[in-house]
Amino acid sequence: NEHVTVRPTSEWTDQDGVVRRIRIPAPIAMLAELTHRCPLACPYCSNPLELEGVETELSTEEWISVFQQAASVGVLHLHLSGGEPAARRDLVELTAAAAKAGLYTNLITSGIGLTEKRITELSEAGLDHLQLSIQGATPELADKVGGYKGGYGRKIAVAEWTHAAGIPLTVNAVCHKQNMDQMGDMLDLAVRLGARRIEIATVQFHGWADRNRQALMPTREQFLKANAFVAEARKRLEGIIVIDYVGADHHASYPKACMGGWARTGLNITPSGKVLPCHAAETIPSLRFDNVRDKTLEAIWYEGEAFNAYRGDSWMPELCRSCDRKAIDFGGCRCQAMALTGDASATDPVCIRSPLRQLLSEQADADSLAEPPAFVYRGR
Ligand code: SF4
Ligand code: FES
Repeated sequence: NEHVTVRPTSEWTDQDGVVRRIRIPAPIAMLAELTHRCPLACPYCSNPLELEGVETELSTEEWISVFQQAASVGVLHLHLSGGEPAARRDLVELTAAAAKAGLYTNLITSGIGLTEKRITELSEAGLDHLQLSIQGATPELADKVGGYKGGYGRKIAVAEWTHAAGIPLTVNAVCHKQNMDQMGDMLDLAVRLGARRIEIATVQFHGWADRNRQALMPTREQFLKANAFVAEARKRLEGIIVIDYVGADHHASYPKACMGGWARTGLNITPSGKVLPCHAAETIPSLRFDNVRDKTLEAIWYEGEAFNAYRGDSWMPELCRSCDRKAIDFGGCRCQAMALTGDASATDPVCIRSPLRQLLSEQADADSLAEPPAFVYRGR
């Protein structure tokens, strides 16, 4: 693969202090945020605070060109996401074009806006997989969290149609203080709906979720209980359902390897065509982002300023650069470092080696133990 060898390299210092140059690998996954429009109003919405309007969205032809470029750069998995991707009238056409380009297509949806007919059409268009979010195990709680009355019932119907169409299903359960005690019931629901996989992920507190910290931050006790539950359930349900789990990192010892390391495996495209190294990268004010309307995806991946900002380890603070875990977690999440320290190149403060960890834990404990205030729902 020629472009892998001729493109710029990133520097990496190994354990013995020897500087090595690493080749930039081709991206594996691309998340296409087809639109920021969404009928739900989740209090932990991961879309940016400034939403991109419908008038700025890439056209059908522009998206199709992006998919074709992605396939030729090396992308294997395409996640069609949003906002709510079903809000795009051309969703079936886009799916067909992506499948034709040779991409594995995964639709990440709240289910709202999908009908039985549309799911059949998506299946015929070559949709490989569908990921359906649930906000709780009961209609009362799920509809309260999503801020959408009747949402739960719609989701159950979508899961059934998906299963009937033979499209493999994953259930996404975002967990927090107010639904974590239903984790077992959400897992049972996923099994009943015929899901092959469930993603149980704890809310991340940058962006909109930060406004709801006291309403959403799980307690340390909930975190420990969830860890034990997942370990037990994985054994009990082996061969029936796969459980992917992201625990509450505010209560964990080390940060997660966000995005598998900055600009190492994947990229995101916003509705208007900006290319980001992760969905929250725009929270880092020093970064400038290229747009697929101006440059090729290949040039952006290998040469884009934002992509090269945190590749390798030369940007890392000494704490991470000399750490034996730097090739495991890559210093954690840049956006979280930005949100919590004001410096995107700081050690992610959820790391127990960070001098800020103590403060972070105290804040997380205080938020988690507070009486939950009313949700601040995602505004449109
Ligand atoms: Fe990861 Fe940096 Fe903490 Fe080491 S010091 S564990 S590299 S975040
Ligand atoms: Fe941006 Fe983690 S969300 S690096």
